[in-house]
Amino acid sequence: MKHIAATCLTALALVPAISSAQTLAIGKSLFNAQCQACHGTPPRLSDNGGRGINNPNAIRSAINGNKGGMGYLSTLSTQDLTDIAAYMGAPTGVSAAAATANERVLNWAEWKFQTMLLPRATSTQVGPYAVRGYGNGLYVGMDDATVYLYSAANGLQPVGALSSFLSMAAADGF
Ligand code: HEC
Repeated sequence: MKHIAATCLTALALVPAISSAQTLAIGKSLFNAQCQACHGTPPRLSDNGGRGINNPNAIRSAINGNKGGMGYLSTLSTQDLTDIAAYMGAPTGVSAAAATANERVLNWAEWKFQTMLLPRATSTQVGPYAVRGYGNGLYVGMDDATVYLYSAANGLQPVGALSSFLSMAAADGF
């Protein structure tokens, strides 16, 4: 009992210490789960979704106005929208440690090759490979060293070292 109380107190004491980096990481995961499918991954916000950057009220009014069918997002809290807006304004502020190299490169690839890699996908781990499949039958996969493309027509093709794709992703803010 004493121990539980002590643990709770410790947790409470930590609340004000939550850093903005964590807020951004939370905003990122919320954005990826709730917004990315329609708006893409920041920094690509060429549509009016960019109005939500650092502006949770703009997101709330888009939800209230059911813009683009967004009305179903009404369960998102004000804190959620604040975190999302902050992340949209600082997508590069999420520390690299917050996502694995594979996820960073896959997210970047979807942003970079956005007409080819659709609809946006989540990764499946297949043995050592993180894999995402797309509507046109193309798969992008990678282990911790090499990036591959797979399609029925061309089979499995290595397209380069993960490290060089990671540099390109980092240069674009992923
Ligand atoms: C089902 C698809 C969909 C989802 C999910 C979605 N949006 Fe939208 N959103 C749209 C469409 C479509 C528009 C209109 C785009 C335009 O006008 O260019 C829009 C418009 C907006 C706007 C602009 C409103 C205005 O004043 O013009 C903002 C800001 C926005 N979305 C933010 C978000 C955020 C943040 C999320 C995640 C919480 C989200 N959207 C989720 C489809 C979606």
